Amino acid sequence: MCGIVAYVGPKDAAPILLEGLQRLEYRGYDSAGVAVVEKSAKSLKMRKVKGRVADLAAAVPARFKGTLGIGHTRWATHGVPSDQNAHPHLCADERIAIVHNGIIENADALRQRLEGDGVVFRSETDSEVLSHLIARTSKETDTLEEAVRRALKLVVGTYGIAVIDAERPGEVVVARNGSPIVLGIGEKEMFAASDVAALVRYTRQVVHLEDGELAVLRADGFSTFTSDARETAKEPFTVDWDTGHYDTGGYEHYLLKEISEQPDTVGRTLRGRIDDRFHIAHLGGINMDARESRSFRRVKIIGCGSAYYSGQIGAQLIEELARIPADAEPASEFRYRSPVVEPDTLYVAISQSGETYDTLAAVQELKRKGGRVLGIVNTVGSAIARECDGGVYLHAGPEVSVASTKAFTSTAAAFALLALHLGRVRDLSPADGRRICDGLRRLPEQIKEILTQEEHIRALALKYAHCPGMMFVGRVRGYPVAREGAQKLKEISYVHAEAYPASELKHGPLALINPDMPTVAIVPDDELLDKNLTTLGEIRARSGRILMVGHRTTDQADDCIVVPKNEIELDPILLTIPLQLFAYHAAVALGRDVDKPRNLAKSVTVE
Ligand code: F6R
Repeated sequence: MCGIVAYVGPKDAAPILLEGLQRLEYRGYDSAGVAVVEKSAKSLKMRKVKGRVADLAAAVPARFKGTLGIGHTRWATHGVPSDQNAHPHLCADERIAIVHNGIIENADALRQRLEGDGVVFRSETDSEVLSHLIARTSKETDTLEEAVRRALKLVVGTYGIAVIDAERPGEVVVARNGSPIVLGIGEKEMFAASDVAALVRYTRQVVHLEDGELAVLRADGFSTFTSDARETAKEPFTVDWDTGHYDTGGYEHYLLKEISEQPDTVGRTLRGRIDDRFHIAHLGGINMDARESRSFRRVKIIGCGSAYYSGQIGAQLIEELARIPADAEPASEFRYRSPVVEPDTLYVAISQSGETYDTLAAVQELKRKGGRVLGIVNTVGSAIARECDGGVYLHAGPEVSVASTKAFTSTAAAFALLALHLGRVRDLSPADGRRICDGLRRLPEQIKEILTQEEHIRALALKYAHCPGMMFVGRVRGYPVAREGAQKLKEISYVHAEAYPASELKHGPLALINPDMPTVAIVPDDELLDKNLTTLGEIRARSGRILMVGHRTTDQADDCIVVPKNEIELDPILLTIPLQLFAYHAAVALGRDVDKPRNLAKSVTVE
């Protein structure tokens, strides 16, 4: 999704902006642009192109000097991907340039008004109204900061913006409302970006802006303000991710790197959180004592896409280990249906990026209604993490590939810890607590064992990749695994994949089964094994081919992937891994853009 980079300091801005934009490429985009201001000449130069950052770099001439600048990668919402619609956008006299993430909801009305006053628009975007509005308000005031503040008062919608003015070549003004902006503090230079990924090459000292805040960056520092111009005090914090996290590390794709990292990333999620003496989980960040943890009568989990599916695994874990009714729902649905918020329900929001707008809006709605919300989030200091009352960080490191893998397994592991905690303050026995603690500790080694089967899984992916569609089925604990397996396959290989509870097959989708519609069946060795094997028999009786993922081989299936057995509650985490590798190799076999699948963005910061 759209990305912003800004720089002010003593150096040439363009290479820094281009490098920053490259670091944001993983988020998905269709065009890119930069604008710089040369201090002595007070002149603004801009280049923008439809296409990749490399195309932009090729379009930037050698003489593109300036020590202040802004850059952008655009993901089209209003208007097709084109050179004109790419950001930055200029005002009429080309003095002011802006880049914008988010959506201006009243853009049509503002545009009409501006056009009525004679303004000629150069793009179809909602964002361009901002450059013209700021040009107007700048005539009423002496500072760019105040001009931006006044213009933003006229705007309804979400934004992260960065603004430069050739007449004020020493400063960049940034502001946020619903779309992230992070400031990076350097040595006599300042940066800003929509994502720390663009900053870590230059600095690890960052400051997150809150919604409604505006910041003025100068080479020698920064000031932050509320929307009504009151100065705010901000504490910088140190990001522990570095550029190495954003390299492919010798792997062909980020996705394969991130799948392969999982023994380590799940280990990091668990590290220091398992207590062997009392067989409990230490989750300092949830900010709840035992009494409070006991007081909840329900748990409601919200997230989007794969985060939601990991929440389904979480709900199952909480019901089984803590015996509290729990369910998961897409955050995007939850926020729109005016949910009843109960005081004795614990709400849990899941997000890898911590930026997903639907999840953030759902958390904000919950907070408005007095709900108690925990976050299970990967990105430290992100908007969702800050909005929640407490939570669990995944510590999985940045996830670059658009399709989520390591964040999924780490979230499921974090839920196991939360379920253990909620269980042990209730009726989960010490013996069961120990069983889960031991099981959790075995996970990293068992994930390693699954990864050694990559060649076998690759061969299966090649065998099935050319089918027109695939069915994924699982029962109870296996169902969210099936959903995530189908999600991975469809998003990166574009093979149609449908997930169903195994028990529902005969109520409709069995009609689809034929030799061209193979089924991936998730069949753990649990109390439902026999029922699952019966389902396989039903599929075979309709000439359906079956790839079974479970803990044993069977003649009922054409092919099997056998994963190591853990405790039944934790098995879903391990059963997910082969499906990630299967989807990856199917996508490679079909020649797909694995890390940046078509039409998708890494973090969905719009509604
Ligand atoms: C799928 C995928 C998406 C995300 C979803 C939520 O592989 O990556 O479905 O899970 O967009 O993103 P976060 O977790 O950043 O809130």
